[in-house]
Amino acid sequence: MKKIDSNNHRVSIVLPTYKERENISSIVQELFELFKSYELEILIVDDDSNDGTFELVKKISFEDSRIRIIRRVGRSGLASAIKEGLLSATGDYVALMDADGQHRPVDVLNAFLHALRNKTDLVVGSRFLKSADIKGLSQRRTGGSSLANVLSRCSLRKKYSHITDYMSGCFVANLDACLAFIYKVDVNGFKFLYELLAVSRGKLSVEEIPLTFEPRLHGESKLDLSIVWDFLISLLHTATCRILPRRAISFAIVGLSGVLVQLLTTSFVMNIFAFTFKEALPISVITAATSNYLINNKLTFRSKRLTGVLLIKGLLKFLLVASFPVVANIGLATAFYNMVSDNELLAQIAGISIVFIWNYVASSRFVWNTP
Ligand code: GDD
Ligand code: MN
Repeated sequence: MKKIDSNNHRVSIVLPTYKERENISSIVQELFELFKSYELEILIVDDDSNDGTFELVKKISFEDSRIRIIRRVGRSGLASAIKEGLLSATGDYVALMDADGQHRPVDVLNAFLHALRNKTDLVVGSRFLKSADIKGLSQRRTGGSSLANVLSRCSLRKKYSHITDYMSGCFVANLDACLAFIYKVDVNGFKFLYELLAVSRGKLSVEEIPLTFEPRLHGESKLDLSIVWDFLISLLHTATCRILPRRAISFAIVGLSGVLVQLLTTSFVMNIFAFTFKEALPISVITAATSNYLINNKLTFRSKRLTGVLLIKGLLKFLLVASFPVVANIGLATAFYNMVSDNELLAQIAGISIVFIWNYVASSRFVWNTP
């Protein structure tokens, strides 16, 4: 392989890992072989995997100082690992790829050469270009990604509408051009690339090359429902000009689901147990609040998730926090109606808004201890 540029480019390759002990060595070897004409650094960002990934990488990094490892304890999540890796890179180009064998090192090299040749800020490896080949994604995941692509395209700047794989975990970036945006990426999610495109607001030149997406070598995918949820929140966050905190958006959607739970529970209890409306209401209000609490604990405040006895304590606190505004809501709506406007809809919206803000702020603070 020949260098196509007279400058001696230094390339950093970031490999985020969570339980990839069985996969990592072969990928590192292959990368060294392929990039041998370049000054290479391989940065592995491990989230304290309990399968010995760190110990293995530590050993191979003794043997070859081009390998660096960042071991993160108490911080986790793919997007934040990627951000930390990219920000710690010392190359003038930085590549991101999965460490489980699904991205081929040769495609990463192609993306890098493409970036060099065309002076592109960001070259994305796409699984959805015509000439790409998806071997390692189930029908369901392919369908999900296609839908996510359509939604992403709608929510991002026109300049990025030619992109075919907004969910890709494989790209090469010119660090000079991308660093300031990488710095700003909101890491509460799986979708680093989508966030990077959102915060860069059309300012990057982006091109794609086709990927062959292989099946995983060993182990299992870490993508789960909470990651899909994070992505939906990202979309809403971008669509609302990124003004509201992501957690507040998540909290609001969970609140809406609570309305549904309350309505269904009321009608269920009245029909099945022949309760009167007044008897059914306390049951359905508590059921809805409990359901809100459990979903928020699983999704909105997942990084501070409560378990065991703390889960029960948290529920009691949450019910307490949520019980204040029931009174306040009525008081506020009445005051608004009397003093500001006698429009009933506006008065109720004012009441609900205050309750929402109170519930969000107070439960963030007192139930999940977040600022
Ligand atoms: N440090 C760290 N922390 N690494 C993680 C974490 C984490 O919490 N979660 C996953 N990883 C690493 C894995 O070890 C792997 O190297 C890479 O990130 C991809 O994770 P997978 O769990 O294998 O993802 P996937 O194959 O299901 O998802 C693929 O498609 C997604 C879009 O559909 C990947 O290509 C993703 O990058 C891509 O976003
Ligand atoms: Mn994978």
